[in-house]
Amino acid sequence: MTIQQSLLKHFNTAFAKDAEVVAYAPGRVNLIGDHTDYNDGFVLPAAVNFGTHVLASRRHDDAVNVMAIDIDNQPVSFNLSQIAFDDKNTWSNYVRGTIIELIKFVQTSQSNATISGADLLISGNVPQGAGLSSSAAFEIALLKALSDLFDISLSGVDAALLGQKAENNFVGCQCGIMDQLISALGKKSHAMLLDCRDLSYQFAKIPDGMALMIVNSNVKRELVSSEYNTRRAQCEAVAKHFNRVALRDVSLVELNEEKHNLAQELYKRAHHVISESERTLAALTALNSNNMAQLSHLMAQSHRSLKDDFEVTTPELDYLVELLNSVVKEEGGVRMTGGGFGGCVVAILPKALQAQAEQVVQDNYFNKTGIEASIFICTAEQGAFSL
Ligand code: GLA
Repeated sequence: MTIQQSLLKHFNTAFAKDAEVVAYAPGRVNLIGDHTDYNDGFVLPAAVNFGTHVLASRRHDDAVNVMAIDIDNQPVSFNLSQIAFDDKNTWSNYVRGTIIELIKFVQTSQSNATISGADLLISGNVPQGAGLSSSAAFEIALLKALSDLFDISLSGVDAALLGQKAENNFVGCQCGIMDQLISALGKKSHAMLLDCRDLSYQFAKIPDGMALMIVNSNVKRELVSSEYNTRRAQCEAVAKHFNRVALRDVSLVELNEEKHNLAQELYKRAHHVISESERTLAALTALNSNNMAQLSHLMAQSHRSLKDDFEVTTPELDYLVELLNSVVKEEGGVRMTGGGFGGCVVAILPKALQAQAEQVVQDNYFNKTGIEASIFICTAEQGAFSL
Protein backbone atom coordinates (compact mmCIF):
# COMPACT_ATOMS: atom_id res chain seq x y z
CA MET A 1 0.00 0.00 0.00
CA THR A 2 1.36 3.48 -0.84
CA ILE A 3 1.41 6.19 1.84
CA GLN A 4 -1.49 7.88 0.10
CA GLN A 5 -3.61 4.72 0.07
CA SER A 6 -3.00 4.07 3.73
CA LEU A 7 -3.87 7.70 4.58
CA LEU A 8 -7.10 7.45 2.57
CA LYS A 9 -7.99 4.34 4.51
CA HIS A 10 -7.15 6.04 7.80
CA PHE A 11 -9.36 9.00 6.86
CA ASN A 12 -12.27 6.73 6.05
CA THR A 13 -11.94 4.93 9.38
CA ALA A 14 -11.65 8.19 11.33
CA PHE A 15 -14.50 10.11 9.70
CA ALA A 16 -16.69 7.36 8.19
CA LYS A 17 -16.47 8.91 4.74
CA ASP A 18 -13.95 9.35 1.94
CA ALA A 19 -11.49 12.22 1.70
CA GLU A 20 -12.29 14.54 -1.20
CA VAL A 21 -8.81 15.98 -1.56
CA VAL A 22 -5.27 14.92 -0.70
CA ALA A 23 -2.60 17.62 -0.51
CA TYR A 24 1.11 17.46 0.24
CA ALA A 25 3.71 20.13 0.98
CA PRO A 26 7.45 19.70 1.58
CA GLY A 27 9.71 20.92 4.38
CA ARG A 28 12.86 22.81 3.46
CA VAL A 29 16.55 23.11 4.03
CA ASN A 30 18.25 26.47 3.73
CA LEU A 31 21.65 26.40 2.02
CA ILE A 32 22.53 29.93 3.12
CA GLY A 33 20.83 33.15 4.22
CA ASP A 34 19.52 32.65 7.75
CA HIS A 35 17.73 35.37 9.70
CA THR A 36 17.81 37.53 6.58
CA ASP A 37 14.22 36.96 5.41
CA TYR A 38 12.51 39.20 8.00
CA ASN A 39 15.10 41.87 7.21
CA ASP A 40 13.97 41.99 3.55
CA GLY A 41 17.18 40.20 2.53
CA PHE A 42 18.06 37.16 0.41
CA VAL A 43 17.77 33.43 1.16
CA LEU A 44 18.77 30.27 -0.76
CA PRO A 45 16.60 27.34 0.37
CA ALA A 46 15.45 24.13 -1.32
CA ALA A 47 12.26 22.16 -0.66
CA VAL A 48 13.13 18.62 0.46
CA ASN A 49 11.74 15.09 0.26
CA PHE A 50 10.14 15.25 3.70
CA GLY A 51 6.73 16.76 4.07
CA THR A 52 3.18 16.82 5.34
CA HIS A 53 -0.01 15.35 3.90
CA VAL A 54 -3.41 16.88 4.58
CA LEU A 55 -6.56 14.99 3.59
CA ALA A 56 -9.83 16.87 3.66
CA SER A 57 -13.52 16.52 3.13
CA ARG A 58 -16.29 19.16 3.30
CA ARG A 59 -18.94 19.26 6.00
CA HIS A 60 -22.43 20.74 5.81
CA ASP A 61 -22.01 22.61 9.08
CA ASP A 62 -19.33 24.96 10.48
CA ALA A 63 -17.41 22.39 12.49
CA VAL A 64 -13.74 21.68 11.82
CA ASN A 65 -12.53 18.30 13.06
CA VAL A 66 -8.84 17.72 12.74
CA MET A 67 -6.76 14.70 13.60
CA ALA A 68 -2.95 14.50 13.52
CA ILE A 69 -1.83 10.90 13.11
CA ASP A 70 1.71 11.52 14.30
CA ILE A 71 0.74 13.49 17.39
CA ASP A 72 -2.02 11.68 19.23
CA ASN A 73 -4.45 10.61 16.54
CA GLN A 74 -7.28 12.17 18.56
CA PRO A 75 -9.78 14.53 16.95
CA VAL A 76 -9.69 18.19 17.96
CA SER A 77 -12.79 20.21 17.08
CA PHE A 78 -13.68 23.86 16.81
CA ASN A 79 -16.29 25.98 15.06
CA LEU A 80 -15.60 28.43 12.25
CA SER A 81 -17.72 31.07 13.94
CA GLN A 82 -15.50 31.11 17.01
CA ILE A 83 -11.86 30.23 16.48
CA ALA A 84 -9.92 30.55 19.73
CA PHE A 85 -6.32 29.75 20.70
CA ASP A 86 -5.95 26.24 22.10
CA ASP A 87 -3.47 26.02 25.00
CA LYS A 88 -3.76 22.27 25.22
CA ASN A 89 -3.53 21.02 21.64
CA THR A 90 -1.07 23.70 20.58
CA TRP A 91 -0.43 22.03 17.21
CA SER A 92 -4.05 22.76 16.28
CA ASN A 93 -3.32 26.49 16.43
CA TYR A 94 -1.61 26.19 13.04
CA VAL A 95 -4.93 24.98 11.63
CA ARG A 96 -6.92 27.63 13.46
CA GLY A 97 -4.61 30.49 12.47
CA THR A 98 -4.40 29.33 8.86
CA ILE A 99 -8.17 29.06 8.50
CA ILE A 100 -8.66 32.54 9.97
CA GLU A 101 -6.27 33.96 7.36
CA LEU A 102 -7.88 32.01 4.54
CA ILE A 103 -11.34 33.30 5.50
CA LYS A 104 -9.99 36.88 5.50
CA PHE A 105 -8.37 36.27 2.12
CA VAL A 106 -11.63 35.00 0.60
CA GLN A 107 -13.51 37.98 2.02
CA THR A 108 -11.08 40.55 0.67
CA SER A 109 -10.37 38.92 -2.69
CA GLN A 110 -14.05 39.07 -3.64
CA SER A 111 -13.94 35.43 -4.53
CA ASN A 112 -17.27 33.62 -4.79
CA ALA A 113 -15.96 30.73 -2.74
CA THR A 114 -17.57 29.82 0.58
CA ILE A 115 -15.69 28.08 3.30
CA SER A 116 -17.69 25.58 5.35
CA GLY A 117 -16.60 23.16 8.05
CA ALA A 118 -14.28 20.30 7.18
CA ASP A 119 -12.86 17.03 8.41
CA LEU A 120 -9.08 17.01 8.21
CA LEU A 121 -6.41 14.38 8.64
CA ILE A 122 -2.75 15.39 8.99
CA SER A 123 0.33 13.24 8.69
CA GLY A 124 3.93 14.24 8.14
CA ASN A 125 7.51 13.07 8.37
CA VAL A 126 9.41 16.37 8.72
CA PRO A 127 11.32 16.06 12.01
CA GLN A 128 9.66 18.56 14.35
CA GLY A 129 11.64 21.31 16.01
CA ALA A 130 14.64 20.46 13.84
CA GLY A 131 14.70 23.65 11.80
CA LEU A 132 13.35 21.93 8.67
CA SER A 133 10.06 23.83 8.64
CA SER A 134 7.59 21.23 9.73
CA SER A 135 5.17 24.04 10.57
CA ALA A 136 5.43 25.72 7.15
CA ALA A 137 4.89 22.35 5.43
CA PHE A 138 1.81 21.91 7.62
CA GLU A 139 0.38 25.35 6.79
CA ILE A 140 1.08 25.07 3.06
CA ALA A 141 -0.35 21.54 2.79
CA LEU A 142 -3.43 22.75 4.64
CA LEU A 143 -3.82 25.75 2.33
CA LYS A 144 -3.44 23.51 -0.72
CA ALA A 145 -6.07 21.10 0.64
CA LEU A 146 -8.56 23.83 1.59
CA SER A 147 -8.10 25.82 -1.61
CA ASP A 148 -8.74 22.66 -3.65
CA LEU A 149 -11.67 21.66 -1.44
CA PHE A 150 -13.45 25.03 -1.60
CA ASP A 151 -12.29 25.97 -5.07
CA ILE A 152 -10.39 29.07 -3.94
CA SER A 153 -7.92 30.43 -6.43
CA LEU A 154 -4.67 30.82 -4.51
CA SER A 155 -1.19 31.34 -5.95
CA GLY A 156 1.92 29.94 -4.29
CA VAL A 157 2.88 33.43 -3.13
CA ASP A 158 -0.63 34.03 -1.71
CA ALA A 159 -0.43 30.74 0.17
CA ALA A 160 3.02 31.59 1.55
CA LEU A 161 1.82 34.97 2.81
CA LEU A 162 -1.25 33.42 4.46
CA GLY A 163 0.85 30.77 6.18
CA GLN A 164 3.25 33.41 7.46
CA LYS A 165 0.36 35.57 8.73
CA ALA A 166 -1.10 32.56 10.56
CA GLU A 167 2.18 32.25 12.47
CA ASN A 168 2.65 35.98 13.02
CA ASN A 169 -0.92 36.83 13.99
CA PHE A 170 -2.16 33.69 15.69
CA VAL A 171 0.56 31.22 16.65
CA GLY A 172 2.85 33.97 17.92
CA CYS A 173 6.08 33.41 15.98
CA GLN A 174 7.28 36.47 14.09
CA CYS A 175 8.82 34.35 11.32
CA GLY A 176 9.76 35.60 7.88
CA ILE A 177 8.50 34.34 4.52
CA MET A 178 11.23 31.89 3.49
CA ASP A 179 9.82 28.60 4.79
CA GLN A 180 6.30 29.01 3.47
CA LEU A 181 7.45 30.32 0.11
CA ILE A 182 9.86 27.52 -0.65
CA SER A 183 7.36 24.92 0.57
CA ALA A 184 4.84 26.40 -1.87
CA LEU A 185 7.10 27.02 -4.86
CA GLY A 186 10.20 24.81 -4.65
CA LYS A 187 11.60 23.18 -7.78
CA LYS A 188 12.95 19.67 -8.22
CA SER A 189 16.78 19.47 -8.14
CA HIS A 190 17.07 23.23 -7.58
CA ALA A 191 17.63 25.72 -4.80
CA MET A 192 15.72 29.01 -4.89
CA LEU A 193 17.26 32.46 -4.52
CA LEU A 194 14.44 34.48 -3.02
CA ASP A 195 14.40 38.23 -2.59
CA CYS A 196 12.34 38.56 0.57
CA ARG A 197 11.50 42.18 -0.17
CA ASP A 198 9.62 41.86 -3.44
CA LEU A 199 9.25 38.05 -3.36
CA SER A 200 10.87 37.63 -6.78
CA TYR A 201 12.86 34.44 -7.16
CA GLN A 202 15.12 32.45 -9.45
CA PHE A 203 16.31 28.86 -9.33
CA ALA A 204 19.83 27.46 -9.24
CA LYS A 205 20.49 23.84 -10.11
CA ILE A 206 22.12 21.69 -7.45
CA PRO A 207 25.15 20.51 -9.47
CA ASP A 208 25.02 16.88 -10.62
CA GLY A 209 27.19 14.72 -8.44
CA MET A 210 26.46 16.79 -5.31
CA ALA A 211 24.33 15.48 -2.44
CA LEU A 212 22.42 17.36 0.22
CA MET A 213 23.03 15.92 3.65
CA ILE A 214 21.13 17.04 6.72
CA VAL A 215 22.32 16.05 10.16
CA ASN A 216 19.96 16.63 13.06
CA SER A 217 21.85 17.39 16.28
CA ASN A 218 18.73 16.22 18.12
CA VAL A 219 19.11 19.10 20.52
CA LYS A 220 16.03 21.22 21.03
CA ARG A 221 16.40 24.33 23.09
CA GLU A 222 13.59 25.83 25.08
CA LEU A 223 12.25 29.30 24.31
CA VAL A 224 13.11 29.08 20.62
CA SER A 225 10.18 31.23 19.66
CA SER A 226 10.88 33.96 22.19
CA GLU A 227 14.61 34.01 21.35
CA TYR A 228 13.66 34.23 17.68
CA ASN A 229 11.29 37.13 18.30
CA THR A 230 13.98 38.90 20.33
CA ARG A 231 16.46 38.61 17.44
CA ARG A 232 13.88 40.05 15.09
CA ALA A 233 13.16 42.95 17.42
CA GLN A 234 16.91 43.68 17.70
CA CYS A 235 17.25 43.80 13.91
CA GLU A 236 14.27 46.13 13.66
CA ALA A 237 15.76 48.37 16.33
CA VAL A 238 18.92 48.82 14.26
CA ALA A 239 16.92 49.55 11.08
CA LYS A 240 15.00 52.13 13.08
CA HIS A 241 18.24 53.65 14.38
CA PHE A 242 19.16 54.28 10.73
CA ASN A 243 15.65 55.43 9.97
CA ARG A 244 15.34 52.77 7.27
CA VAL A 245 12.57 50.29 6.48
CA ALA A 246 14.74 47.23 7.11
CA LEU A 247 18.37 46.15 7.48
CA ARG A 248 18.27 45.47 3.73
CA ASP A 249 18.64 49.23 3.37
CA VAL A 250 21.77 49.53 5.53
CA SER A 251 25.24 48.77 4.11
CA LEU A 252 28.16 47.31 6.04
CA VAL A 253 30.06 50.57 5.58
CA GLU A 254 27.22 52.54 7.17
CA LEU A 255 26.89 50.03 9.97
CA ASN A 256 30.60 50.25 10.78
CA GLU A 257 30.50 54.04 10.77
CA GLU A 258 27.75 53.91 13.38
CA LYS A 259 29.33 51.15 15.46
CA HIS A 260 30.20 53.42 18.40
CA ASN A 261 26.58 54.61 18.62
CA LEU A 262 25.12 51.13 18.82
CA ALA A 263 25.04 48.66 21.72
CA GLN A 264 27.56 45.93 20.94
CA GLU A 265 24.90 43.26 20.78
CA LEU A 266 22.80 45.22 18.30
CA TYR A 267 25.86 45.88 16.15
CA LYS A 268 26.65 42.15 16.04
CA ARG A 269 23.10 41.18 15.11
CA ALA A 270 23.01 43.67 12.26
CA HIS A 271 26.51 42.69 11.14
CA HIS A 272 25.35 39.13 10.74
CA VAL A 273 22.24 40.04 8.77
CA ILE A 274 23.87 42.46 6.35
CA SER A 275 26.91 40.26 5.67
CA GLU A 276 24.73 37.13 5.39
CA SER A 277 22.57 38.68 2.71
CA GLU A 278 25.72 39.54 0.70
CA ARG A 279 27.04 36.00 1.17
CA THR A 280 23.75 34.59 -0.09
CA LEU A 281 24.00 36.46 -3.38
CA ALA A 282 27.63 35.37 -3.72
CA ALA A 283 26.59 31.77 -3.00
CA LEU A 284 24.11 31.89 -5.89
CA THR A 285 26.97 32.83 -8.23
CA ALA A 286 29.16 30.10 -6.75
CA LEU A 287 26.43 27.49 -7.19
CA ASN A 288 25.65 28.55 -10.74
CA SER A 289 29.32 28.38 -11.71
CA ASN A 290 29.92 25.15 -9.78
CA ASN A 291 32.60 26.91 -7.73
CA MET A 292 32.52 24.65 -4.66
CA ALA A 293 35.60 26.19 -3.04
CA GLN A 294 33.84 29.55 -3.00
CA LEU A 295 30.58 28.05 -1.73
CA SER A 296 32.54 26.25 0.97
CA HIS A 297 34.12 29.48 2.11
CA LEU A 298 30.79 31.36 2.16
CA MET A 299 28.98 28.64 4.10
CA ALA A 300 31.81 28.50 6.65
CA GLN A 301 31.62 32.28 7.11
CA SER A 302 27.86 32.03 7.46
CA HIS A 303 28.15 29.50 10.25
CA ARG A 304 30.74 31.58 12.09
CA SER A 305 28.55 34.64 11.79
CA LEU A 306 25.51 32.78 13.15
CA LYS A 307 27.68 31.55 15.99
CA ASP A 308 29.56 34.71 16.96
CA ASP A 309 27.38 37.60 15.81
CA PHE A 310 23.84 36.26 15.83
CA GLU A 311 24.49 33.76 18.65
CA VAL A 312 21.98 31.13 17.58
CA THR A 313 24.17 28.02 17.29
CA THR A 314 24.76 25.42 19.98
CA PRO A 315 28.00 23.56 20.86
CA GLU A 316 26.47 20.46 19.24
CA LEU A 317 25.82 22.27 15.94
CA ASP A 318 29.33 23.76 16.01
CA TYR A 319 30.78 20.31 16.58
CA LEU A 320 28.80 18.74 13.71
CA VAL A 321 30.03 21.48 11.38
CA GLU A 322 33.62 20.84 12.49
CA LEU A 323 33.25 17.09 11.93
CA LEU A 324 31.69 17.40 8.49
CA ASN A 325 34.18 20.04 7.41
CA SER A 326 37.01 17.62 8.17
CA VAL A 327 35.67 15.45 5.33
CA VAL A 328 34.08 17.95 2.94
CA LYS A 329 36.90 20.53 3.05
CA GLU A 330 36.69 22.80 -0.02
CA GLU A 331 34.72 20.33 -2.11
CA GLY A 332 31.39 21.50 -0.70
CA GLY A 333 29.88 23.54 2.13
CA VAL A 334 28.68 22.95 5.68
CA ARG A 335 26.71 25.13 8.10
CA MET A 336 23.84 25.17 10.55
CA THR A 337 20.51 25.67 8.82
CA GLY A 338 17.25 27.36 9.80
CA GLY A 339 16.49 29.35 12.91
CA GLY A 340 19.13 27.72 15.11
CA PHE A 341 19.03 27.12 18.88
CA GLY A 342 19.51 23.42 18.10
CA GLY A 343 18.22 21.61 15.05
CA CYS A 344 20.21 20.71 11.97
CA VAL A 345 23.37 21.19 10.01
CA VAL A 346 23.32 21.08 6.19
CA ALA A 347 26.13 19.91 3.96
CA ILE A 348 26.30 20.10 0.19
CA LEU A 349 28.98 17.61 -0.74
CA PRO A 350 30.19 15.33 -3.54
CA LYS A 351 28.20 12.08 -3.51
CA ALA A 352 31.56 10.32 -3.39
CA LEU A 353 32.19 11.76 0.11
CA GLN A 354 28.77 10.91 1.50
CA ALA A 355 29.72 7.62 3.18
CA GLN A 356 32.82 9.14 4.76
CA ALA A 357 30.82 12.11 6.05
CA GLU A 358 28.24 9.80 7.63
CA GLN A 359 31.04 7.79 9.20
CA VAL A 360 32.75 10.75 10.83
CA VAL A 361 29.47 11.72 12.50
CA GLN A 362 28.76 8.17 13.63
CA ASP A 363 32.27 7.71 15.00
CA ASN A 364 32.42 10.92 17.01
CA TYR A 365 29.18 12.76 17.73
CA PHE A 366 27.69 10.39 20.28
CA ASN A 367 31.04 9.91 22.04
CA LYS A 368 31.44 13.61 22.56
CA THR A 369 27.85 14.69 23.26
CA GLY A 370 26.02 11.59 24.51
CA ILE A 371 23.35 12.27 21.88
CA GLU A 372 22.62 10.27 18.72
CA ALA A 373 22.52 12.39 15.57
CA SER A 374 20.10 11.56 12.74
CA ILE A 375 21.43 11.70 9.21
CA PHE A 376 19.24 12.32 6.16
CA ILE A 377 20.29 12.36 2.53
CA CYS A 378 17.87 14.71 0.81
CA THR A 379 16.80 15.66 -2.64
CA ALA A 380 15.40 19.03 -3.74
CA GLU A 381 11.71 18.73 -4.61
CA GLN A 382 8.70 20.53 -6.06
CA GLY A 383 6.58 22.79 -3.86
CA ALA A 384 2.88 22.26 -3.20
CA PHE A 385 1.83 25.07 -5.56
CA SER A 386 4.56 24.58 -8.19
CA LEU A 387 3.26 23.96 -11.66
C1 GLA B 1 12.79 30.13 10.80
C2 GLA B 1 11.77 31.13 10.25
C3 GLA B 1 12.21 31.69 8.89
C4 GLA B 1 13.64 32.21 8.95
C5 GLA B 1 14.57 31.17 9.61
C6 GLA B 1 15.95 31.71 9.82
O1 GLA B 1 12.83 29.00 9.99
O2 GLA B 1 10.52 30.51 10.09
O3 GLA B 1 11.33 32.69 8.48
O4 GLA B 1 13.71 33.43 9.61
O5 GLA B 1 14.08 30.73 10.85
O6 GLA B 1 16.56 31.97 8.61
